[in-house]
Amino acid sequence: MDTPVREILDLLVRWTHVIAGIMWIGNSLLFNWLDRVLTKEDTRYPQSFGKTWLLHSGAFYEVEKTLLPPGKVPSPLHWFMFQNLTTWVSGVSLLILVYYMGGAAYMIDPQVARISPGVAVAVGVATLVGGWLVYDLLWRSPLGRRPPVASAVSLALLVGLTYGLAQVLSGRAAYIHVGALLGTLMTGNVWLYIVPSQRGLVAATRAGQPQDPALSQRAKLRSIHNNYMTFPVIFIMISNHYPGTYASQLNWLILTVLMVASALVRHGMNMRFTRRGWLPATFAVGLLGAALAWALMARPWGATAAAVGPVSFAEVQRIIDRRCVACHSAQPTDPLFTAPPRGLVLTSPEQIKAYADKIKLQVVEVKAMPLGNRTGMTDDERAVIARWLAAGAPLE
Ligand code: HEC
Repeated sequence: MDTPVREILDLLVRWTHVIAGIMWIGNSLLFNWLDRVLTKEDTRYPQSFGKTWLLHSGAFYEVEKTLLPPGKVPSPLHWFMFQNLTTWVSGVSLLILVYYMGGAAYMIDPQVARISPGVAVAVGVATLVGGWLVYDLLWRSPLGRRPPVASAVSLALLVGLTYGLAQVLSGRAAYIHVGALLGTLMTGNVWLYIVPSQRGLVAATRAGQPQDPALSQRAKLRSIHNNYMTFPVIFIMISNHYPGTYASQLNWLILTVLMVASALVRHGMNMRFTRRGWLPATFAVGLLGAALAWALMARPWGATAAAVGPVSFAEVQRIIDRRCVACHSAQPTDPLFTAPPRGLVLTSPEQIKAYADKIKLQVVEVKAMPLGNRTGMTDDERAVIARWLAAGAPLE
């Protein structure tokens, strides 16, 4: 596909993805919150769970959660499922557009493993399909009736997968595939458990029969899983802006810390209405997770040591000409790009100097650049750049 066409598609699909994601997760957070603020006072229906009042956009809303007497299904009745589907479909489309097409350039990092584009894509697809099958079977198996054990096994498998992906794919591709898998699990839960349970509830109400409790229990469990996956998934969605996380040699551990800490923060937000002290505990866990991740990020293991000794700028510029400007110039020669990525042009000394800090991060510390090392930069060249930066990035 033409690069400009891909870029426009990328923009439109990403825009859709973010809007649908905000609507889906926003609703999910709102309903979770609503469930916790309902009170039994002044309810109207015999099978009521409780009600509450909301103030928004200049008026009052009365909301009551209830089961209904037989035979009566109100109309119109609003379901919430297409926000989820739109988010997932646009997310998978983005995965294909950004990661699988264009020779899977973002998926391969020769520092991590020298694999072919075909293998990289196969690993990605297998992660999503296999991940759902393993998760679903685990929770359908007898183990699934013991949620604490099944949760521990699920977490161990997820950490194992995160570690494994980080050994074959580039850091950012490993991250995005863990996120895409969590999004796929959430979508499977919505369409294969939660929506059927709601269909059952509507049918049972219409027929005047009780809803099959097994159906609603399973749906409830899957809905709780989704609740805990929201914060980790949102971190992973934005993670590609933070090479300090995904491009570290300990990237799998950083992701694990952030996933566990953010799920615990979600737990604190769930519990804060029922038990005192949860809110401060939540903040504490969040801070602890952030501090731990920061400590790990601050140690990019692969960092190139800056040997001492002078380096001439001419030498630095020669390296950048050879290794960077194929992409980072006004008219890139690398067929992947028709415009300089991130608008970053490294053809003049002033531009190179102005971006010294970012170059340090990308080239010396996390080594995310050159992208997939497509231009074959050597460690010696990185050391020269490191030395130049350590000397204060002089222009002579
Ligand atoms: C094969 C193409 C390619 C090559 C070669 C390449 N880059 Fe990049 N560079 C990219 C892409 C793509 C991005 C944007 C990555 C993203 O979206 O996260 C990027 C981003 C960057 C950024 C981050 C810019 C920002 O705003 O945060 C820096 C700095 C950078 N590159 C420096 C370099 C340097 C220095 C070299 C040479 C040693 C280099 N790049 C070689 C493709 C390339």
